[in-house]
Amino acid sequence: MSHDNSSDDADRFTRRHYVAGAGSLATVAIAGCSDGGSGDDGSGDGSADDGSGDGSSDDGSSEGSELEIIHWWTAGGEQDAYNALLDGFREEYPDVEVVDNPAPGGAGSAIDAVVQNRVIDGNPPSTFQIWPGQALTPYTDEGLLEDIGESVWDDEMRDAYLDDVVDLSRPADNLVAVPINIHRLNNLFYNVSVVEDAGVDPSAIDGPQGLLDALETVDAETDATPLVHQTQSPWSSLQLWENVFIGEQGVDAYQTVLDGDVEGLEDEVRSALDTLASYLEYIPEDAGSISWDQGNNELIAGDAAFLHQGDWAAGQYEGADDFEFESDWDMVPFPGTSGVYHSVIDSFVFPTNNPSPEATEQFLNYAGSVDAQERFNPIKGSIPPRTDVPMDDFGPFLSRQFEDFQNSDSQPPTIAHGTGVAPSIHSALEEVFANFNGNLDVDAAYEGIRDAF
Ligand code: BGC
Repeated sequence: MSHDNSSDDADRFTRRHYVAGAGSLATVAIAGCSDGGSGDDGSGDGSADDGSGDGSSDDGSSEGSELEIIHWWTAGGEQDAYNALLDGFREEYPDVEVVDNPAPGGAGSAIDAVVQNRVIDGNPPSTFQIWPGQALTPYTDEGLLEDIGESVWDDEMRDAYLDDVVDLSRPADNLVAVPINIHRLNNLFYNVSVVEDAGVDPSAIDGPQGLLDALETVDAETDATPLVHQTQSPWSSLQLWENVFIGEQGVDAYQTVLDGDVEGLEDEVRSALDTLASYLEYIPEDAGSISWDQGNNELIAGDAAFLHQGDWAAGQYEGADDFEFESDWDMVPFPGTSGVYHSVIDSFVFPTNNPSPEATEQFLNYAGSVDAQERFNPIKGSIPPRTDVPMDDFGPFLSRQFEDFQNSDSQPPTIAHGTGVAPSIHSALEEVFANFNGNLDVDAAYEGIRDAF
């Protein structure tokens, strides 16, 4: 499918509105904020340093040609996508030297500690990866991100972007972020031959409970791990709980939770926890010591049947040898969520006291361009937030996702990936699910969720 720029499509896009994540917005003192996670589950190489020896200027005024980028794209197909983005940037701005400073850890589990301290100390990197929406608020509340409404977001760019994505880029009044992708979270990936061996038809699974039956069948009929899942860091269980909840109760109830009314939905919240606890009986024995992409390798190898994950997992399949869409792997929307495009978005920002204002502006301009988004997204496993990116090279899987996006009834924000709740709530929930991964205690988790909101 190629991208259609007809006014029909443009209308369809501009009429789309993400369900706003309107939970009460606690001001987070970012100096003391921890991510509440249980550690780094990344498998990449290297880690972000404190920036003190990287040669960047710290007087805030010099126009350095070094561009320091902190990000967490070191796993699976992430690194290839990031490199494709940098290749395009370097072609356009050959004089800028990119200083790559990754903070590995799935879902940014290790990035906050590095970035927040540096931004607070007035020694920020040139730019860093962050979810737009509520995750930006600790920075915008303290005035730590530059307004890029004039310098980067010109009229051409504003017109080209989906309106709802533009809105996520201005949590207060000013535009402060440049989103580069739209991932989908509510995917159930599977290894085709493993599910065939088990006699399970994923497209016939009609809801979260039906998935439990399928996991039982895989367990009984094959030697494969029914559900490959990591519990080293809490975010994967948190996101799975979100999708079970939507699958069981629908998006309106999910929005009610985001708005903070957990007690009014106590039975529903508990039910999703019960279902999740049952799933966690079917995950690998070493779930506590693997990263999401190591788990995904098990699926690629034919040693696991199912994976619940954002479509960054598909980026990893694209990079794998002899592992083809439809014949070797496929995906159905998480059972019960078929009209939903549960969106996860990444962006880059312009921290104040910037060591390389000119190069940072150039990079943000590039990240917002058609060229950047056409290079990055097909490899990353995401679709572009600009509406004018040619879709010819996105391949059959992402073309299908794009069609699902266009036909979706709602595109709610996520909890686990920061767009939908304030960082203080996100941290508290990560702690809840870190404990739940260990004890499967539904009462304690319910109370933790209620208290977090
Ligand atoms: C990010 C993705 C990334 C994933 C796993 C998400 O929070 O939005 O870009 O691939 O985490 O690390």
